[in-house]
Amino acid sequence: MERSEREYDVIVWGATGFTGRLVAEYLLDRYGVGGELRWAMAGRNASKLEAVRAEIGREAGRAADALALITADADDPASLEALVARTRVVCTTVGPYAKYGSGLVAACVQLGTDYCDLTGELQWMRRMIDAHEAEATRSGARIVHTCGFDSIPSDLGTWFVQREMRARHGVPARHVKLRVRGSKGGASGGTIASMLNMLDEAERDPSIRRVLADPYALNPEGRRSGPDRNEGLAPEKDDDFDVWTGMFVMAGINTRVVRRSNALLDDLYGADFRYDEAILTGAGPLGFLKAAGLGLGTGGVMALMSLGPIRRALSRLLPQPGEGPSKAQREAGYFDIELHAEHPGDHGKSLRARVTGDRDPGYGSTAKMLSESAVCLALDPARTGGGFWTPASAMGDALLDRLVANAGLTFTIES
Ligand SMILES: NC(=O)c1ccc[n+]([C@@H]2O[C@H](COP(=O)([O-])OP(=O)(O)OC[C@H]3O[C@@H](n4cnc5c(N)ncnc54)[C@H](OP(=O)(O)O)[C@@H]3O)[C@@H](O)[C@H]2O)c1
Repeated sequence: MERSEREYDVIVWGATGFTGRLVAEYLLDRYGVGGELRWAMAGRNASKLEAVRAEIGREAGRAADALALITADADDPASLEALVARTRVVCTTVGPYAKYGSGLVAACVQLGTDYCDLTGELQWMRRMIDAHEAEATRSGARIVHTCGFDSIPSDLGTWFVQREMRARHGVPARHVKLRVRGSKGGASGGTIASMLNMLDEAERDPSIRRVLADPYALNPEGRRSGPDRNEGLAPEKDDDFDVWTGMFVMAGINTRVVRRSNALLDDLYGADFRYDEAILTGAGPLGFLKAAGLGLGTGGVMALMSLGPIRRALSRLLPQPGEGPSKAQREAGYFDIELHAEHPGDHGKSLRARVTGDRDPGYGSTAKMLSESAVCLALDPARTGGGFWTPASAMGDALLDRLVANAGLTFTIES
């Protein structure tokens, strides 16, 4: 069936999981049932779906009985194809994506259905791009990974500050640095399972270790090199912010996404564009010590977790799939990041942008970012044809405006 004639605008697959339920809660609260957005909840277990629908309806104080429920299992390709054929956009939180997500991407690509997810699994994104890019271009399916905290604030933050730089000074910044000022939140079992699965795959396959270590791992063929190097663990003094900085654990994903955006946008930020991320830890000896602690802590955890037996033993002590931060923790959470965009010729014309979120980054804010990405793909005019896009290259200003209007994010120029 033609995409425009499909029964639903958006189907949320994984609505019974920790993050998927938050997405369904948000869509119910913001868009209701039977309104401008035609949407449905999907999962592998019909009775669990019914229970979640009843609970979120009760919590929102809204009738949710008319919300359609669809069952589809990652192990049943026919059920995935049937789901994908009924909607314009699939929004999926079924992860680890490398374990459960490949069949869904293949079905979307084949049937020309748009798609967004929350994966941060670089090795899997690389596999999906290599396997399906040509067919997605042909079928018209827009596939957009990384529509959560990784990597929307980074990707749209860079898009935003570069847009302002071009508007004010007529040139893009050659170097953008994202610096985390503060954030508060926790991790879910599904996120931990995805990270552990990535380490399992890397242990078995050296080619995956090379992808994870490549600063241009997500770039298109022929664009896999440039001036950026991998993030280091050591503290660095940042002269623009005049404080010490330490390693930001999400940088390994976000930097690859922003670099891919630049390549897909035909070097909108410049052919020699540089991008990096770090956490601001403060001035003086205390700032240095905090930055050193971040590097040592992150390096130590990564070294321990790379050892299979230790990884398996520790994983039993961590949150399990389905578990995650409480409502109170999500509502008390936030993120606050700054982006410094260096003018190519005149330091005095450099710009400082700020991006904030009003919930914990990983779940409260992420659920809203993913939901609005799905709605944007479904209802806003398309910027691109089919292919594997990033949030900024697929949706740009349309998504930015939605996030500011509906999802509690702010994008401002500070100086
Ligand atoms: N990028 C970000 O900022 C960000 C933030 C949050 C989450 N994430 C990612 O999102 C993913 C989900 O995280 P989560 O904490 O929500 O995980 P979760 O609570 O474990 O939920 C996983 C979902 O997958 C479903 N599922 C498992 N196996 C399936 C199968 N064979 N067929 C169909 N559905 C299946 C589960 O169904 P049941 O309910 O029936 O078990 C559940 O709905 C993870 O990969 C995580 O890394 C990313």
